[in-house]
Amino acid sequence: MSLDEVKIVTLPKFLDIRGNLSVIEECKDIPFDIKRAYWIYDVPGGEKRGGHAYKDNREFIVALSGSFDVVIDDGSSRKNYSLNRSYYGLYVPCGLWREMENFSTNSFAIILASAGYDEDDYVYDYSEFILRTEHEVFLK
Ligand code: TYD
Repeated sequence: MSLDEVKIVTLPKFLDIRGNLSVIEECKDIPFDIKRAYWIYDVPGGEKRGGHAYKDNREFIVALSGSFDVVIDDGSSRKNYSLNRSYYGLYVPCGLWREMENFSTNSFAIILASAGYDEDDYVYDYSEFILRTEHEVFLK
């Protein structure tokens, strides 16, 4: 999978004097049916999350509060996406290595996923990821 498939999506936002509202609809704002949501919070300063790829699962990541960086690697290049607004989301297809780092104090990440949790869907070893990428054995 190429880094070109990774997309920053600007979500709808409704601003009025009572405050702001943003929304995510499956298959409209993000290109998959949402099967699962999980969130990451209370990350100690300097910690990293992620450090894996998925064979099948696709994700959409939003910084609901604070900021953090998502580093995406397609096996030949790396790109850093800084998420710092609750109306921006990052679409990450399967078959890409991803790390999350540089979490600000009180940052709160929500991740919407296209598949249920399945330990066998993870590639935790970077050299295995590179081998799979070279042999194009990731699913689309
Ligand atoms: P882990 O994959 O290490 O998190 P990250 O990708 O952010 O580094 O997950 C931490 C723990 O949570 C691990 O024991 C697996 C569990 N977990 C679930 O049970 N269900 C889930 O949907 C997720 C994402 C993790």
